[in-house]
Amino acid sequence: MAEVKLVHVWKKFGEVEAVKDMTLEVKDGEFMILLGPSGCGKTTTLRMIAGLEEPTLGQVYIGDRVVADPEKGIFIPPKDRDIAMVFQSYALYPHMSVYDNIAFPLKLRKVPKQEIDKRVKEVAEMLGLSNLLKRKPRELSGGQRQRVALGRAIVRQPQVFLMDEPLSNLDAKLRVRMRAELKKLQKQLGVTTIYVTHDQVEAMTMGDRIAVINQGVLQQVGTPDDVYHNPANVFVGGFIGSPPMNFLDASVIEDEKGVWVDFGEFKLKLTDDVGEVLREQNYIGKEAIFGIRPEDIYDAIFAQVKIPGENMVKAVVDVVEPLGSEKIVYLKVGDLSFVASFHPESQVKEGQEVEVVFDMTKAHVFDKKTKKAIV
Ligand SMILES: Nc1ncnc2c1ncn2[C@@H]1O[C@H](COP(=O)(O)OP(=O)(O)OP(=O)(O)O)[C@@H](O)[C@H]1O
Ligand SMILES: [Mg+2]
Repeated sequence: MAEVKLVHVWKKFGEVEAVKDMTLEVKDGEFMILLGPSGCGKTTTLRMIAGLEEPTLGQVYIGDRVVADPEKGIFIPPKDRDIAMVFQSYALYPHMSVYDNIAFPLKLRKVPKQEIDKRVKEVAEMLGLSNLLKRKPRELSGGQRQRVALGRAIVRQPQVFLMDEPLSNLDAKLRVRMRAELKKLQKQLGVTTIYVTHDQVEAMTMGDRIAVINQGVLQQVGTPDDVYHNPANVFVGGFIGSPPMNFLDASVIEDEKGVWVDFGEFKLKLTDDVGEVLREQNYIGKEAIFGIRPEDIYDAIFAQVKIPGENMVKAVVDVVEPLGSEKIVYLKVGDLSFVASFHPESQVKEGQEVEVVFDMTKAHVFDKKTKKAIV
């Protein structure tokens, strides 16, 4: 087991800067997720840790060993890094049995036969493959094949697992199950794991921590709760959560009652704490971006704290999506649109006017220019 560290790592492919000044520490035994949209540099980052790409600049550490530092001419090849990778398109050997597929990496390393047998059986037991060891890959379901690919990685007992969207080939139901199994397995094995995905639900449910990346730049590293409740900037707020956080352009104003966000069509009073921070940081009279998650906007009938004129507004219901456990409701106030997640028993209908209430204790305010969170 080992920690993994990237220090000011850059990767350029000609003109393309795939990874920019990435500094990231993954703790020993941690399940770290690299999350971001397509093309943001996740795979490139993982490949640099694996040794399949050389960084253009910066250092990569596995344990206390530098495995890449181009300025010092250090580059340890993948086979000497003691890592195991699982890719999206894992290829099993079609002519080999499940047993032989899992045993393969150990045979390559000339591990004694008895030891191989012991480890393959252990891993098969762990992954629920014990009664499938004689089968060929074509005789397995997608999820079983996926587990064989995992088994092949696990059997080596590497210091670090690197996984690049390993569940994306599976159907939705199986993916949910494998997600839980993989998380449990990682905890059992205690092996440092770096897991790439563009699926924020996967990231939230599996990771000890999530590193959110956009356009090659690390945006925030934190626990799932952290990145969800305290997004560092507009990108993170918008990327994590479904439907995403609402963002409304606002002027920050102050009167005798307190500090408000004014959208033109209506205004909302911020809590005293938030108002105080905005005042201290000289945002009064300036533009800002107000952020609020759909679940923090209520059908007034189901709201606890309603203060007309302060956290309540009349809106027109544009679209209702009943999801069973909640109702996703698209709302309009004049030209402003936002989305709310209402109580499943809310009776709102499309075209109808409804009183909506904002839970201002859950408000976020971002700087208009830097897009960074102020509070
Ligand atoms: N070998 C390469 N040569 C040139 N450009 C590359 C190369 N590999 C990746 N890139 C570019 O680097 C950027 C990051 O690519 P990367 O594969 O790391 O993205 P990703 O986050 O894994 O995306 P996805 O979710 O689609 O897999 C992209 O703009 C990509 O086009
Ligand atoms: Mg990728």
